[in-house]
Amino acid sequence: MIVLGIFAFGMNPGACILRDGELIAFGEEERFTRLKGSHGMFPGRATVSCLQQVGIDLGEVDRIAFAWDAKKYPYRMLASITRQFLKYRGSAARSNGGSTSNGRKTGNANVLTVLLNLLKYSPRRLLEETRLALRTTGYRGELPPIEFVPHHLCHAYSAYFSSPFDDALVLTLDGSGEDTCTQIARGEGDDLRVLSETLIPHSLGWYYAAFTAYMGFLPYRHEGKLMALAGLGHERGADNPWPERLQTILATDDGAYEVDPTFTRFGAHSYAERFTDKLADFITGFDSRLRPLGSRNRADQARLLDPAYVDLAWGVQRRLEEAVGDIVSGALSGLTTRNLCIAGGVGLNCKMNGSLLGKSGIERVFAFPASNDAGSSIGAAMVVARQGGDRIKRELTSTHLGPEFSDGEIREVLRFSKVSFSEPANIAEATAKRLAQGQAVGWFQGRMELGPRALGARSILADPRNPDASERLNREVKSRETWRPFCPSILPGREDELITGADDASFMTIALPVREDRRAVMEQCSHTDGTTRPHVVCEEANPRYHSLLRHFEEETGTPFVINTSLNVSGEPIVCTPAEALRSFYSCGLDALAIGSFLVEK
Ligand SMILES: [Fe+2]
Repeated sequence: MIVLGIFAFGMNPGACILRDGELIAFGEEERFTRLKGSHGMFPGRATVSCLQQVGIDLGEVDRIAFAWDAKKYPYRMLASITRQFLKYRGSAARSNGGSTSNGRKTGNANVLTVLLNLLKYSPRRLLEETRLALRTTGYRGELPPIEFVPHHLCHAYSAYFSSPFDDALVLTLDGSGEDTCTQIARGEGDDLRVLSETLIPHSLGWYYAAFTAYMGFLPYRHEGKLMALAGLGHERGADNPWPERLQTILATDDGAYEVDPTFTRFGAHSYAERFTDKLADFITGFDSRLRPLGSRNRADQARLLDPAYVDLAWGVQRRLEEAVGDIVSGALSGLTTRNLCIAGGVGLNCKMNGSLLGKSGIERVFAFPASNDAGSSIGAAMVVARQGGDRIKRELTSTHLGPEFSDGEIREVLRFSKVSFSEPANIAEATAKRLAQGQAVGWFQGRMELGPRALGARSILADPRNPDASERLNREVKSRETWRPFCPSILPGREDELITGADDASFMTIALPVREDRRAVMEQCSHTDGTTRPHVVCEEANPRYHSLLRHFEEETGTPFVINTSLNVSGEPIVCTPAEALRSFYSCGLDALAIGSFLVEK
């Protein structure tokens, strides 16, 4: 059976194709529209790309699986949300009193606005809009049947059925999927059973987004910046009072938790949509210097590195880790499994994922590499394929499931652009040599990776022995904050020499401690808190990248390179050869290894 999975009209739309239960193509809409996140859009370009990769048209698809259950809306969802919102409306009004402490005029995110927003997801409307949007692919025949699948079930399926485990606790955490924010499930063999759910407004995604916005970052996009900032507060962590203070906002009790929404969504908002004035009053009540920061205000950006803000970030991160640790402990009681699968937007928090290893007896953690909503399309397709009798339990060994371009196509783009290029006898060896000479090299090879991390198909690479490598990459190539760390791609079998607990850490989704005696060697691709987010390269999945690492090791004795995504600041990872060239010429890269060709400045 051929199933097209889609996630549309929300954050990070995406599409995929499963054939007889096997994931064979994936695309995230932003890579094609070139608009970061492509929020609210239909994944029409991603769908066309998937169909082209597989060589079929829409008429050959048996079923379409949509990773959002519109059928929940008219009944269960409206009832549960109305209950929750009414409960908190009163406390929001009391806490704000209609104005802020300094008398500013306030906006108000009220219940009615939120309910009206929800109506756009009525089943009939979603179905009609999906059918119309599918027509943008150019297909004019009869459309395959479309099925709605509960969002968190999709996240859970994607993680468990791609994991190396036959038995696992499956935790999904995000902003919200329909009315669910957190779900706990149990995967056993070919079966997955939902054990419990936490509903809106107790969203860990909303919790983290509130502080992301408070620091002047873009919520639902720059959470990783807050996570990286938190790492800078590691040394002062023992004396940090924020985790305890933040229990007021994120409370836990015996495996259950609550996020008080009067700090996030319900109440007066003078600064940003994602947090209320009550949060600003709460934080500045402890430290008056800690006012909310503005993203476009340069002075505010500079203030981020004040120890006071760094400590707040560390506290926010630590409180998240404590709460999720409690959730996992509670869920594990009475279960024998020691494996954990994670997906959902909060599952992109690699520090949180790493913090769960060893906690409550968890011995192995698999965090799905496309934990964002684009990846929920994979789970949706899995649910529908399984209903149709396909076997879907297959360990994900390769993330290279996106579009690729032949040497012929690449040569044509290079010639059209009138770019000088060479064709070395061995592009992997030529690239390794240039890296060893200190060059920063763009690496464009084969099928694009699934998920938000570059994993050796659309990457920027550098020599980790160079003491200026990360500073130079941040300043000259990526134009990003100096405190954001880089990650290593490592030869398989060598990760244990460098990192503790790297068994399931192949896809840069888990931050793990660098071995004490390897800290200096890995300084350029680890964070100041002593962790790194490894990518262990699979030879079968990416033979050319594996070969590059081998040549680099022969040249330097070092079995890893610095790997970051091939894009310029604010843009999605490049998809096509032309986009690779554009990025190459608009940043400080020295060379571009594109297919079998080398472009040098
Ligand atoms: Fe989600």
